[in-house]
Amino acid sequence: NMADEPREVKVVLLGDTGVGKSSLVLRFVTNSFKSYSESTIGASFMSKLITVDGKPIKFQIWDTAGQEKYHSLAPMYYRGAAAAIVVYDITRKSSFQTLQNWVKELKQLGPEDIVIAIAANKSDLGDQREVESVAASEYAMTLDRRGALFVETSAKEDTNVSQLFADLSRRLPAVKKRGSVRKTTSLQSTQKNESKCC
Ligand code: GTP
Ligand code: MG
Repeated sequence: NMADEPREVKVVLLGDTGVGKSSLVLRFVTNSFKSYSESTIGASFMSKLITVDGKPIKFQIWDTAGQEKYHSLAPMYYRGAAAAIVVYDITRKSSFQTLQNWVKELKQLGPEDIVIAIAANKSDLGDQREVESVAASEYAMTLDRRGALFVETSAKEDTNVSQLFADLSRRLPAVKKRGSVRKTTSLQSTQKNESKCC
């Protein structure tokens, strides 16, 4: 039955090194946490099948490396993505600036209809907070007509991690028929090429 086939959703995680991207993915996929997590090299891939509102969704998750030396690889991972989770660390103000740079890059170079979620991670470290939630959620409100999704998470304490992915999937545009998806995609890429040249 076609209706029972999972919808495949490509998600990319972006954000400064050390904000907890890999930890969020590990928590979501394996429900575990490492207090010592190795910095990602290049990118890593994981997938997970969940059910949201009775519908199966298979997340194809690209966890990018946040170190600046890997920045130029990012477009390979956000290309064709349906959604992006951009992460900052509430205890490090500079990671919130980096988040804003990633959002700008996605708006300029990412897929036109990409759904963006902002994850304010390490919410368990409230005593070391450097970024106020109000400031970050107000920023999120400016990103879309309806505001980007804003979720405070803790990979360590398993706060709002599965909710983040479920809420993200609820914001995806309705699935189009197979034929029309292809047509739309090729039309868009043609238009992009045309606008680039001359
Ligand atoms: P790169 O791969 O270098 O881009 O970093 P990353 O964003 O993947 O960060 P990573 O998941 O490796 O986490 C960095 C450090 O933060 C690790 O020591 C984690 O244990 C810790 N960490 C991640 N999430 C949390 C959290 O929610 N709370 C706390 N207290 N620590 C966390
Ligand atoms: Mg990582």
